[in-house]
Amino acid sequence: MRIVLLGPPGAGKGTQSVRLAHRLQVCHLSTGEMLRQACDEKTALGLQAAQFMQQGQLVPDAMVEALVLERLAEPECNKGCVLDGFPRTLPQAINLDKWLNDQGHNPLIVLELSVPKEELFERLAKRGREDDGREIVAERLEQYKEKTRPLTDYYEKKGVLELVDGHGTPDEVFDRIVRIVENRTKP
Ligand code: AP5
Ligand code: MG
Repeated sequence: MRIVLLGPPGAGKGTQSVRLAHRLQVCHLSTGEMLRQACDEKTALGLQAAQFMQQGQLVPDAMVEALVLERLAEPECNKGCVLDGFPRTLPQAINLDKWLNDQGHNPLIVLELSVPKEELFERLAKRGREDDGREIVAERLEQYKEKTRPLTDYYEKKGVLELVDGHGTPDEVFDRIVRIVENRTKP
């Protein structure tokens, strides 16, 4: 089973995808975490990525795709995965579909978390990560609107999109997600 969590910054993708991957016993892949690790380790990719991330902009597709497709091909992901923060652009989504198709995998399940904008700002201000200042969050939201929102249409047309109300406690949101996934995977 391969599941994508879509949603703006602060929607709860990380929070929910860790839980979901644990519940389903599949791997959790967060491109944000992978990129932040590369930045901390000061790898060539990390140094390049940092310039985009510090400004709240997306890292170029080719860099992220290389990271993700390499991990997806590892044995730990054989049973499936929960993708957190990928894909985020149409080219990323198209290349992921190509890869899944080439591998003979089932189509994705895509869960889009929605949360009111002010709540996103509040959650991120409270968290206080390096890219959580109000101005950078505003830019991350812009990038989301411009580059990631079109994925909603793309996945809706494929019949794999599910909308999830991301407002409420993490437990409440998780229950909604589990119900949707169970319905989708009922024999
Ligand atoms: P990434 O790390 O993916 O950041 P993001 O998508 O902007 O979102 P966040 O991780 O901030 O939010 P989230 O939805 O995971 O929410 P979380 O669960 O943490 O990406 C960072 C950067 O990397 C990007 O800007 C880009 O530069 C680059 N990048 C990554 N992927 C890329 C890609 N595919 N292509 C190109 N560039 C890419 O929750 C947020 C906070 O809210 C937490 O403190 C949490 O505890 C709290 N919270 C969660 N749920 C609730 C709840 N229900 N109620 C109250 N608080 C809650
Ligand atoms: Mg996250």
